[in-house]
Amino acid sequence: MSDPSVDTARAQAAKRKILSAYDEPGTHDEITRRTFMANATLAMSGIIGLGLAIPIIGAILPHGGEGAGTWAPLSPSEWKSLQAATEKPVQLSFTLKSKDAYLPPQSINEFVWGIKTTDEKMRKARPDLFTSKGAEVPYPVVNMGFVIFSPICPHLGCRFDYSADQNKFLCPCHGSQYTREGAHIAGPAPRGLDPLPLRERSGAAEVTWIRYAQSTPSRIVVSYTS
Ligand code: FES
Repeated sequence: MSDPSVDTARAQAAKRKILSAYDEPGTHDEITRRTFMANATLAMSGIIGLGLAIPIIGAILPHGGEGAGTWAPLSPSEWKSLQAATEKPVQLSFTLKSKDAYLPPQSINEFVWGIKTTDEKMRKARPDLFTSKGAEVPYPVVNMGFVIFSPICPHLGCRFDYSADQNKFLCPCHGSQYTREGAHIAGPAPRGLDPLPLRERSGAAEVTWIRYAQSTPSRIVVSYTS
């Protein structure tokens, strides 16, 4: 029969040996293997992270600069109604083809406002669109004798309407008011209406849809959509 005190001493010695194995630095081969595994894990994490980050960042970041959006055509009848415009602003409908990074392409019915005017009149009525304090627009404000306005109120994004009686654009949400040329004259909006690019191609008029940041005095591009 074995002595229990000897058995206990042996068991404790074995335990100490096992625990001390974790403190040992290991052989050269073991160290090389561990280093390789650690580097491989880091490299794999980096590749996976990069693969996820590129589309996410691409979807989040706005695409800046002129022409970053694509052009959506106005129907021939809408283009005709703009050409026939006199003093009264014209509401122009068209179809936006929206492309999101992860969603299938969508068609959305949208509208913009168009007014007939001249470069000279607009420079007088809306100097904020032509100065270089960060609020100017990077495309011609007046094109072919027209200005196109985004229908989105720069305050908090409601759709404003035109009142023929008052010859003003009026926002129903918080009472912001704008002149026919889009200058801000009343209410909480921090700036005037936002113009959108307009051009003619093969006899058809096209517009680019831009979303600007709301509630900021400066005109900051949030996204371009076609
Ligand atoms: S959203 Fe137009 S006034 Fe507030």
